[in-house]
Amino acid sequence: MARSPTPYPPPPSPLPRPQNFRRSIRENFLGPEHFILPIFVHDDDKNVPISSMPGIERLSFDNGVMDYVAKAKSLGVNQVVIFPKTPDNLKTSTAEEAFNPNGLSQRTIRAIKDKFPDIEVYTDVALDPYNSDGHDGIVRDDGVVLNDQTIEYLCRQAVSQAEAGADCVAPSDMMDGRVGAIREALDANGFQEVSIMSYTAKYASAYYGPFRDALDSAPRAGATGRVIPPNKKTYQMDPANLREALREAELDEMEGADIMMVKPGLPYLDVIRYLKDNTTLPISAYHVSGEYAMLKAAAERGWLNEKDVALETLMCFRRAGADIILTYYAVEAAEWMAGDAMPRLY
Ligand code: PBG
Repeated sequence: MARSPTPYPPPPSPLPRPQNFRRSIRENFLGPEHFILPIFVHDDDKNVPISSMPGIERLSFDNGVMDYVAKAKSLGVNQVVIFPKTPDNLKTSTAEEAFNPNGLSQRTIRAIKDKFPDIEVYTDVALDPYNSDGHDGIVRDDGVVLNDQTIEYLCRQAVSQAEAGADCVAPSDMMDGRVGAIREALDANGFQEVSIMSYTAKYASAYYGPFRDALDSAPRAGATGRVIPPNKKTYQMDPANLREALREAELDEMEGADIMMVKPGLPYLDVIRYLKDNTTLPISAYHVSGEYAMLKAAAERGWLNEKDVALETLMCFRRAGADIILTYYAVEAAEWMAGDAMPRLY
């Protein structure tokens, strides 16, 4: 038996039709100019793949780095940040290699600026890649991470990076008061034009695992009688906290930061938006190693469409308020966008 037609109410009048404007009301844009490409470098003549970061390699100082920077530049990615891997024999519990004028990081900065003067070179200011204890600060025998003593070393490190030609130093160490001290040290040495991108809200996150594999920089047990904290929770932020990010932001702004970073990225989009709405400084977001690894792993299994999900993710950083995105996808994303008929649609 035929059913009687279902009665339904007429559409409201007038009917708002957001669909009609889908293509013309895009609020945010993503391009290679928004990326900072992290680069892992080592003193070796070969590039070595990092197993937990498919597609990313620890690059050889001789050729690997220059080839990668040239490729990035050809795709419009003009900003890089350098992370050196230090051999164990150069690591000490006070990390003096961090400010060796001929250290790997300083040589890499110099080499990039010599060959590509218009590439913006960012650096990492923190002791962990040079510290035999694997911490960003100097660890006292009883396990206390020495904030104020560490700052003196961070200042020397930042000045040595500026001497090598860095455009922007980026303290990722989370010691209290380091931004102001680094600003003063840079100015006192004639580097007024060198900027500071502060890791303002850097959380004690499990998403950094693959990065620590890449640099072999995880905290490690010390000699007998020394206490080495197994994690960085005394100086990096508690993932449960939002308001504290604003406190860190206020301090960094007062101390002279030029850019404020939130890290990790995707699980912390609320923090990006919160800082964006509470400061006029540019905001950067770090799409960290573990976030990259998750997308790669799912893509390898065919569970996600990698291009679509990666470009969507990067766009979401922009929507959340990030002016700049540090991402291991920088080169690949730039390639995808260059190949698109309407690159601006992602
Ligand atoms: C350390 C530093 C870390 C990262 C950047 N700088 C790791 C850490 O704090 O242990 C992580 C970046 C990433 O996971 O991609 N100074």
